[in-house]
Amino acid sequence: MLNIRIEKTSTPKTLPAADDPLKFGTIFTDHMFVMNYDTGKGWHDPRVVPYQPISLEPSAMVFHYGQEMFEGLKAYKTDDGRTLLFRPDKNIERANRTNRRICIPEIPEEDFLQAIKTIVKVDEAWIPTQEGTSLYIRPFIIATDPYLGVRPSDTYLFIIILSPVGAYYPEGLNPVKIWIEDEYVRAVKGGIGEAKTGANYVASMKAQMKAHEEGYSQVLWLDGIERKYIEEVGAMNIFFKINGTVVTPELNGSILPGVTRDSVLQLCKEWGLPTEERRISIDEIFEAYNKGILEEVWGTGTAAVISPVGQLRWEDHIMPVQDGGIGEISQKLYDTITGIQLGKMKDNHNWTIEV
Ligand code: COI
Repeated sequence: MLNIRIEKTSTPKTLPAADDPLKFGTIFTDHMFVMNYDTGKGWHDPRVVPYQPISLEPSAMVFHYGQEMFEGLKAYKTDDGRTLLFRPDKNIERANRTNRRICIPEIPEEDFLQAIKTIVKVDEAWIPTQEGTSLYIRPFIIATDPYLGVRPSDTYLFIIILSPVGAYYPEGLNPVKIWIEDEYVRAVKGGIGEAKTGANYVASMKAQMKAHEEGYSQVLWLDGIERKYIEEVGAMNIFFKINGTVVTPELNGSILPGVTRDSVLQLCKEWGLPTEERRISIDEIFEAYNKGILEEVWGTGTAAVISPVGQLRWEDHIMPVQDGGIGEISQKLYDTITGIQLGKMKDNHNWTIEV
């Protein structure tokens, strides 16, 4: 159990107004959690302090070799005033998997959870309650050794910041248009594609810019070797409903094992829908589209929740899905997952925990 020191701000900020659209990731709460790591000493000095800039040496290793991990999860306020976290155990487990892959020391799971609960409790008043909003929790670790040689750092900072957010995409629950990328790649097996680390996101930016210029919100990645098999969207995992069956790419080492992905698979199975986790080629999707059996496409993610896809673009082929509208399963998944997160629907899976 951590002995967390709490230092409250003497200059609290004004909370966002009830009609603030809470543009994703732009507003930060009054406090943050910080903990240091030193080789030989371990994780130490856990504290909640006022949200503030951090001071690092320009030689800090994170700036040069990108040794950094992050996570994303959310807290929700129920109608009866409780604060709920959605499956934090899964994020914590994945955080330590990322840590192992990029040589960052692990954080004991119970300490990680205690840190999240503590900072969320301190800034509980910041949890928004308007429809479609939540408090986004961003834990991250950075390598801080002042050193330019390539090796894992001996010192780290673990920080958790909080941000009241609305929908990730400006479209909200309205369907997004997705560009299937066949030039750049995001990750390859054996690389770091399944780790939640900044490098995967910077690898995606060039293609994302290209997609934006063409009027598409996001990029759907194909595998790095054959440019043939569907991987993920970058900020989301991807699902297709083809002729009644829900299919999603299997966890192959180069895509992120999403928490929402896992929840969606469980729900679809319980609803009696046939589900498959397997390799899916872009040719199969194109063929399904041409046969008229590409029934629904949606993305899943913590930030995006469920994001219906209204159009796919692959090379010169434009594939509208659901006539650009929201599919029945996408809507049901959105309603069920947000219903559980907000404590409005029965949580049969024990996915939520109270702060
Ligand atoms: C999340 O869904 O929490 C993520 O980390 C995706 C991020 C790119 C916003």
